[in-house]
Amino acid sequence: MNNNLQNIPEHIAIIMDGNGRWAEEQGKERIYGHQNGVQAVRNAIEAAGEAGVKFLTLYAFSTENWNRPKEEIDALMGLLVKAIQNEMDNLMSNNVRLQAIGNLFSLPIECQNELKDAIEQTKKNSGLTVVLALSYSGRWEIVNAVKEIIKHDVNENEITENSFATFLNTKYIPDPDILIRTGRERRISNFLLWQIAYTELFFPNILWPDFKKEDLFEIIAEFQTRQRRFGKTGAQVQSEI
Ligand code: FPP
Repeated sequence: MNNNLQNIPEHIAIIMDGNGRWAEEQGKERIYGHQNGVQAVRNAIEAAGEAGVKFLTLYAFSTENWNRPKEEIDALMGLLVKAIQNEMDNLMSNNVRLQAIGNLFSLPIECQNELKDAIEQTKKNSGLTVVLALSYSGRWEIVNAVKEIIKHDVNENEITENSFATFLNTKYIPDPDILIRTGRERRISNFLLWQIAYTELFFPNILWPDFKKEDLFEIIAEFQTRQRRFGKTGAQVQSEI
């Protein structure tokens, strides 16, 4: 593990891509890849917790994933319910708080209930917060925020970047410092569009089921070498340190 305790990222977001190809490369059904993706989720949670990260957001099911074959959707939802049940003791003993973002009411009722219970049970935990993005897309979230603003009759003069962000699902969550996408693709795929304005992007050349704790530690170590300027010059940033 990386021993540099300076500049630990507060929030890491992950697009967990490549489960289907991982399985297909072994001549197996796509769901076999998702099943093995659960161990990679465990690895990411453990590594983030050990590194002192405060928020880990996982893109578990996108709005667009509803277009997949029903069989795969059902299997993914079932896997999610089972994973939450199996991991509850682990989450509690590791002081992990669970949260979720997305159009949660569109999920199967069993999934909604399991999620609600897990969120309730872990709400007092003060270590890592794991945020599951489910039936989530960045554009859906932004449109939803606009609808809420209209519903609340907010005056035009009151709308700023900060006030707008309070209508997003992520209102209590800082913007990600790091966004990781596995699966050998380099795109954002409608994830956290508002929140990643100044996020550092990482595209490790692996498929999600192969993601290990060491992969996260390596990414954090590289993040610590990057200078984030947020639109300022390098000299300005240096003078602020
Ligand atoms: C993308 O791989 C992965 C998903 C759509 C689902 C991710 C789900 C899990 C890792 C399992 C359950 C999650 C939790 C939080 C317990 P893909 O199917 O798009 O892969 P491909 O690009 O190779 O087809």
